[in-house]
Amino acid sequence: MAQIQGILFDAYGTLFDVHSVVEAGRALTDDPQTLSLTWRQKQLEYTWLRALMGRYEDFWQVTQAALRYALRRLGLRASEAEFARLMEAYLSLRAFPEAKAALERLRGTPLAILSNGSPRMLAAAAASSGLAGVFAHVLSVDAVKTYKPSPKVYELGVQAMGAPAGQLLFVSANAWDVAGAKAFGYQVCWCNRANAPMEELGVAPDVTVGGLDEIPALVRRASAGSA
Ligand code: LAC
Repeated sequence: MAQIQGILFDAYGTLFDVHSVVEAGRALTDDPQTLSLTWRQKQLEYTWLRALMGRYEDFWQVTQAALRYALRRLGLRASEAEFARLMEAYLSLRAFPEAKAALERLRGTPLAILSNGSPRMLAAAAASSGLAGVFAHVLSVDAVKTYKPSPKVYELGVQAMGAPAGQLLFVSANAWDVAGAKAFGYQVCWCNRANAPMEELGVAPDVTVGGLDEIPALVRRASAGSA
């Protein structure tokens, strides 16, 4: 990898564990895992569909619509209060266990979040996970009113960091986001905790790790290599 001037992190699934909403689903179903997975998959599909249709609604609204669909598809009923409780779980997500220490070891390199999340959702998750203080920028797609993997979204990171994409590292656990960021021109690190296969989209990450804790050593090696 070339020298790294800054690192951009995807939020959901990369820094914040979206399946921590499973706990909130327990009140409605004895299979909260399926509810969580269906909700997440539909949430992503709606971002892609709305981007293609040119009909942006923010990630809070998309996440609500995805939850309504997931509940109907699984034949579950939720009162208004239960629905609100599930949504609120998105505002208090847990960080992955290794995230905080890894980010602290990256101090000295400018760090940012670049996410589909709305500004309010990202601020809430960063605060509740204890990660807020380490980021120089928390960048939301809301600034360009479309969703990943639109190049318009990835461009936000270049502008905020003031460095070319090829000198920035983009980190995501979502393989499709890895593909989008690589197609845009970033150096890309795939945080592949689940040992999933890479998408067949004609691009590959520059490096793959099993957790965020492997990133500080990568960045040190990249600096040493180009020194
Ligand atoms: C995000 C989604 C992709 O945070 O997880 O942008």
